[in-house]
Parts: sequence; C-alpha cells; structure tokens
Amino acid sequence: MKGVIFDLDGVLLSTDRLHYEAWKKIADKLKVPFDRSVNDRLRGVSREASLEIVLEKYDGRLSKAEKEDLCNEKNEYYKELLHTLSYETINPKVRETLSFLKEKGYRLAVGSSSKNTKTILQRTGLENYFDAVSDGNNIKKSKPDPEVFLKAAEYLFLKPEECFVVEDAEAGIDAAVSGGFRTIGIGPAAGYSKTEYPIKDIVQIKEIAIKNKT
Ligand code: G6P
Ligand code: MG
Repeated sequence: MKGVIFDLDGVLLSTDRLHYEAWKKIADKLKVPFDRSVNDRLRGVSREASLEIVLEKYDGRLSKAEKEDLCNEKNEYYKELLHTLSYETINPKVRETLSFLKEKGYRLAVGSSSKNTKTILQRTGLENYFDAVSDGNNIKKSKPDPEVFLKAAEYLFLKPEECFVVEDAEAGIDAAVSGGFRTIGIGPAAGYSKTEYPIKDIVQIKEIAIKNKT
C-alpha cells in the first residue's frame, strides 16, 4: 500500500457539533423538529442532501431556489462557527499519525464531501500534511458514490487498490469499497461489516500501515 485517504469530519476532527448548531437555526426557522439523532444521519452527507433530511418533517413545499437559499444560509452560520477552530482543536494523536505515515513514505490525501475542507485544514494547521485534497468542490456525486476518493487517488498518482480510505461513516465505507479501496473504519464505521480494519484509536493506523507497506 502506498497512500492513505482521510475523510475529514469525524476522522481528523469533529465538526458534528458545528453542523448541528447551524442546521438547528434553519430547523427552528422552519419550525421542524431537529435533534442529535437527526444530526447523526447527516454524517458524510452533502449539504443539499442534508437539507432534504432536515426537511423530512416539514409540512409544506419549497422551490429549488428556496432550498438553495436555505443551504447558503446554513453555510453562512457554519462558516461563522468555523472561526472557533484552531490548532488546538486537533487531537495530537492525529498529527502524530500523519507525521508517522509521511515518514514511512505514504502519500496522504483528504477525501471529504465538505466544500469547506480547505478552510478547515487551514484553520487547524493540517494542510501541510497532505499531498492532495479532494472535496465537495471537485465532485458531482456525493458518498456513497466513490468519486471523491477516486479523484483523491488520481491526485496522488496512485491506483485505488494502493490506497487505504479512513472513514467514520458507513456511506464513506460503501464509497471506498465500491471504488476498489481498502478500508479502515473509526467511530460508527468501526462496527460496520464492510470495514476491513475497524479501529478505536487513530494511532492504530500506524500498525496497519507498517504491515501493508509496499
Ligand atoms: C461532511 C460532513 C457532512 C456535511 C458535508 C458537506 O461530509 O460529514 O455532515 O454535510 O461534509 O459539508 P459542507 O461544509 O460542504 O456543507
Ligand atoms: Mg465523516
């Protein structure tokens, strides 16, 4: 194996809380119930698809333009909240793992549905660890479609079968498997039957990487 592609939200850091706060404002405005269990279903899901989930209990119809406005409004709230991120937001084990993988000669990429990926990497000082970034801005189809990871592999000049994908969402593991990648699952994805390597702690990637290096 030669490359590792990391999902962002839920793997390198947790932005769940920020997405929750931003979507809650939209849900309150529309007077639809919204809680943590609905928010959990938004993991790895694009902004537009997330709105459809938020609107499941909405009693009415919205035009395409109104939906677009709501997505933009949510993103404005979310971008404000991203100002709270900093170097300290990142668990030191994440930097330790990324440095280790680089030292061992692995090429590293981010593969995330988020259009705010670059802002998040910059604000947390993570951007220099990665040789490539594939995100919501360069894809047409969101996970479980493999496009975001296939693009990441292409940017790394590697074949899918030479890369691990690290994911926290089942939809992300599905995307990786259908793209021909090998998988490492953390958090909810650790309990998923399609995950090849379930892990509890990000540092466990080090052993997996050593064992499989080519
Ligand atoms: C990630 C998160 C999702 C989010 C998506 C789009 O996949 O897990 O919860 O909806 O990115 O994020 P964006 O920043 O483009 O709205
Ligand atoms: Mg995720």
